[in-house]
Amino acid sequence: MRVLLAGATGYIGQAVLKELVVQGYEVIALARRGHDLVIDDPKAVTIVEADITADGDWDRHVPAVQAVVSCLASRTGAPADAHCVDFEANQKLLKHAERDGVSHFVLLSAICVQKPVLAFQRAKWQFEQLLHDSPVPATVIRATAFFRSLVGQLSRVQAGKPFLLFGSGEHTACKPISDRDLARFIVGQLTESRQGTVRRIIGGPGPAITPLVQAKMICEAAGQPCRHRSLPANMFTWLRWLITPLTLFSHRMAERAEFLRIAQFYASESMLVWDEVAQIYDAEATPEFGDDTLGDFYQGVCSGKVPLPDRREHSLF
Ligand SMILES: NC(=O)c1ccc[n+]([C@@H]2O[C@H](COP(=O)([O-])OP(=O)(O)OC[C@H]3O[C@@H](n4cnc5c(N)ncnc54)[C@H](OP(=O)(O)O)[C@@H]3O)[C@@H](O)[C@H]2O)c1
Repeated sequence: MRVLLAGATGYIGQAVLKELVVQGYEVIALARRGHDLVIDDPKAVTIVEADITADGDWDRHVPAVQAVVSCLASRTGAPADAHCVDFEANQKLLKHAERDGVSHFVLLSAICVQKPVLAFQRAKWQFEQLLHDSPVPATVIRATAFFRSLVGQLSRVQAGKPFLLFGSGEHTACKPISDRDLARFIVGQLTESRQGTVRRIIGGPGPAITPLVQAKMICEAAGQPCRHRSLPANMFTWLRWLITPLTLFSHRMAERAEFLRIAQFYASESMLVWDEVAQIYDAEATPEFGDDTLGDFYQGVCSGKVPLPDRREHSLF
């Protein structure tokens, strides 16, 4: 089967590209010019260099495909960029998929879209609705936190500094998933025949982990005594209020304010299934997949066996 992969240069996109090749798919990988994708098996992968957000004829060199996988995502989460990438670029992909009459469109989305309050979550939610209304059979994968998102404090702990918690560090939790396990889950969807749109929430192996447990895991892996410091749980909201007057005059400040809104969301919400009726996050109801654990990942990074993921715009600390 020939598959068009968009977002092939991203953290999860690269893992999906590898998994597609391992499972014997023929891959058309879409990448912006200047990418640094390294392909082990050039017979299995064709790179089409095009910018889906900027080139009118981005799909001119894309051959006919039977399935589309989208790992596209705004790198900043800023409102305009989120609309441009999470909504508009995916909309263009979907139009292409409709023209090709593909048998499956797999979209990597995020579990936090279940409570769409941030600009990037609304953009993703809007596209999920479009996909739902399209005749193309589709799977929407709402994944929980990635390992990469939970590695930000490793270097400060290795330097002997305390792990930073918001409040007690016990009010939120997640079931983190590795890029490899998530890629296996995503590619696995292609073997299922679809009618309509199916939504799958997916986390890594349990149990759910709080930031306090993460602190213990990181300190242990770094060979440091477990020290942590508590920051006010609403810190990012206060900072946002401080800069709010400036957002009226400055686009940059408006983007900063959105970044603080994003930080506050992740400091205060769990990446688990939200039970709308009970108004609680439900760890038991959050499906699990894969074998890789966060503890082993921290140990691997600290021992040098696992490379430290490049966090780029995802850095907070
Ligand atoms: N972080 C988490 O813990 C988490 C948890 C659950 C779900 N998710 C969701 O998972 C998805 C993938 O995340 P990720 O970390 O793999 O993303 P990522 O590493 O930031 O990759 C984003 C991909 O989209 C492409 N892209 C971004 N802006 C573009 C533009 N203007 N034009 C063309 N291509 C563009 C990037 O291409 P370039 O390389 O050319 O920039 C890259 O291939 C996102 O939807 C995210 O919300 C994240």
